[in-house]
Amino acid sequence: MTTKYLPGLEGVPATQSNISYIDGERGILAYRGYPIEQLCQHSSFEEVALLLLDGELPSAGELAEFDASLRQNRRMKYHLKEMMKHLPPAGHPMEMLQTAVASLGMFYPSGTACLSGGVCEDLNYIHRMTVKLIARMPVIVAWWQHMRRGYDPIDPRTDLSCAANLLYMLDGEEPDPDLVRILDVCLILHAEHTINASTFAALVTGSTLASPYSVVTAAIATLSGPLHGGANEQVLEMLEEIGRPEQAKPWLEARLANKQKVWGFGHREYKVKDPRATILQKLMEQLMAKRGGQVSPLFEVAVALEEAANERLAPKGVYPNVDYYSGLLYAEMGIPVDQFTSIFAVARSAGWLAHWREQLRDNRIFRPTQVYTGEPIRDYTPITQRA
Ligand code: COA
Repeated sequence: MTTKYLPGLEGVPATQSNISYIDGERGILAYRGYPIEQLCQHSSFEEVALLLLDGELPSAGELAEFDASLRQNRRMKYHLKEMMKHLPPAGHPMEMLQTAVASLGMFYPSGTACLSGGVCEDLNYIHRMTVKLIARMPVIVAWWQHMRRGYDPIDPRTDLSCAANLLYMLDGEEPDPDLVRILDVCLILHAEHTINASTFAALVTGSTLASPYSVVTAAIATLSGPLHGGANEQVLEMLEEIGRPEQAKPWLEARLANKQKVWGFGHREYKVKDPRATILQKLMEQLMAKRGGQVSPLFEVAVALEEAANERLAPKGVYPNVDYYSGLLYAEMGIPVDQFTSIFAVARSAGWLAHWREQLRDNRIFRPTQVYTGEPIRDYTPITQRA
């Protein structure tokens, strides 16, 4: 058994998976073998979710059935809404999402289907829970947007796609088709990313045969940190602090001189620009062209900072990651900054649950070892004899 400790488990395989693939040297990300560029061009979040879960692109009938069950499962018991009303409005949406998803496990008890044997074989149960979670997380996120301001939440619609319904529920207006397509692509890009911190948390929790609600709750908690999903919020605050494109370079110099991280840059896996950042940047450019240049001036600040960072950070293999441009797009949709990571979680629910299903098929509880650095065995000292 190896006792060499690798901080952050860098390079240590923690599982075998055939869900997604990253080539960090060439900037490639593929889901079930399909490059994300092609999926973003031709697919939808619903289809990608099913691809991640089942392993193959669905037939038209399979997709229609999955889509219909997602739409039907948007309705939730009013008890959950009542519970959410009692949560503090100033609380962070990711804490709320974590609380509400954990509560779903109580409002919609899953029984013992997964808890009795060493391996969960109830495929029907797994499928039903997966659909419920993917369908309901966006509803919870959108409900909270209104409830925390003291307004009644907007009911979900069944005639809209995931992305369209989320935009509709967030602001109550008929969603703009351009923004729907952009959000759909954002959801595709955030749906899965091999075994990152939150997916690892999901696997560890799933390996104890905890319920899928606990699995997703653990993953949401892990995603919330600024070194993971929470970085997209920090990026917007950072760009606001920089203020103008010409300030980007001096700001970067001062930041690096103080040995501080630049939010939205760097990735454990990618040594080139994150392919998701490239797609998101293009979406922003397309939106800008469509609107005759009328997008947030922070986009120019972001481009200037990336240029400055190309000189200072690229030599270390540090480039923009997925969180760098996503927040700018969400802001164009009117989504508040503190909801950015919740939207990430909505999309990533598909990946987390795909990994949960994969884990259950060949489960062994995670129980790593450690390198002990403490005291050798010693005798207890009575309190009266301690210095
Ligand atoms: N800004 C400035 N320097 C950075 C950096 C960043 N965002 N990310 C990495 N670096 C530098 C480190 O300082 C280190 O430099 P050194 O070798 O001179 O000490 C080098 O690049 C390697 O970085 P390291 O922290 O070892 O990489 P990691 O794999 O442990 O960390 C992240 C990966 C994502 C945690 C890290 O890049 C980071 O904190 N990024 C900012 C947060 C973020 O955007 N997270 C979202 C990820 S999708």
